[in-house]
Amino acid sequence: MKKVFRFLLWLGGIVFVLVVGTILYVHSVWDRTYEAPYPEVTVSMDSAVLARGEYLVYGPAHCATCHIDPSDYDAMAQGELVALAGGGEINIPPGQFRARNLTPDVETGIGRLTNEEVARVMRYGVGHDGRIIFPFMPFENMTQEDLNAIISFLRSQPPVKNKIEPTEYSFLGKAVLTAGLIKPIEPNGTPPVSLEKEASAVYGSYLANSVANCVGCHSPRDLNSGEFIGPKFSGGLVFEEANGTFTTPNLTPDPETGLTATWTEDTFVARLKGGLVHEGTPMPWSSFAMMDEIDIRAIYRYLESLEPTKNKIEQTVAYRE
Ligand code: HEC
Ligand code: HEC
Repeated sequence: MKKVFRFLLWLGGIVFVLVVGTILYVHSVWDRTYEAPYPEVTVSMDSAVLARGEYLVYGPAHCATCHIDPSDYDAMAQGELVALAGGGEINIPPGQFRARNLTPDVETGIGRLTNEEVARVMRYGVGHDGRIIFPFMPFENMTQEDLNAIISFLRSQPPVKNKIEPTEYSFLGKAVLTAGLIKPIEPNGTPPVSLEKEASAVYGSYLANSVANCVGCHSPRDLNSGEFIGPKFSGGLVFEEANGTFTTPNLTPDPETGLTATWTEDTFVARLKGGLVHEGTPMPWSSFAMMDEIDIRAIYRYLESLEPTKNKIEQTVAYRE
């Protein structure tokens, strides 16, 4: 009896040391820094460049969906170009992520970041301080012209003083970082210099995959690592939001289960222009409603050109009582 007791005590001691050791280890190394190149950027105050940057930031690239204060959501839904003063929060198990102030204010905005530091966040997912940034901003394959236009526009805004508290990781988030499950992103080869804006599947592919991130939400993924684990655009990703559960529809042209097989191009344009229908949905409807018809038609033509995938999504919106 005594022997068993002593053994259990011993075992308990080992487990205790292992658990405490792991916790201390995770707490000490989770915020290690990464090396990544600083991309080239050419900033210009040319009015066509600034207009392109503004369109991308508020429309397809939807920086505004995250980088504005939640009290401005209604104004944005009305089409107002509200200040990118930060404040949007994403609360998920790995932590509380707070989108930064993207106006040029020196103290609280990107005024103290170089253009190359901002570009590195977009192309490599590495922050100005070398910390990894969770993959909310997969702009690694954006064209050089669009990257230049976005950063030019950000520099041209009036500065707004608005201090945003830092992102806070939960223990799970720190453990995910310690385990190296989130890695810096990187472009597939050298990103294109520019692309012809036209209502074609080629341009639609660029928007859906490299700018608007339709692929990031409308595909099966591992929620801890972000890895794609099924056919892209076949839907089924589940979002637990404050007011209910939202599941992305299948956007491939499968005749039975795909959304683009049953919607005409005009239905699709009208739906995207129409904005939010379901309160609390994570889809950035207000930003996408600011997309022009050429872009929306391009995306539709690209989705139509995809391999049909059978994946029945029973219900996309389920509100909690
Ligand atoms: C889905 C939400 C989302 C979208 C869309 C988004 N961001 Fe962010 N962004 C965030 C969050 C959250 C953070 C804070 C990350 C952190 O602190 O780890 C952030 C941080 C940043 C940072 C600061 C990184 C640093 O070094 O601290 C920059 C710069 C930035 N975003 C630029 C952009 C630009 C430019 C766009 C559009 C082209 C954009 N973001 C679109 C959520 C988003
Ligand atoms: C942040 C995640 C997210 C992104 C990014 C996103 N979606 Fe969605 N989408 C959703 C969710 C969740 C739903 C289901 C709830 C709803 O209809 O709002 C949805 C619904 C839809 C619907 C069906 C609407 C209806 O009336 O049934 C279409 C069409 C759609 N998305 C197209 C797109 C396209 C095109 C893009 C890129 C331009 C895109 N989505 C980007 C999350 C996203």
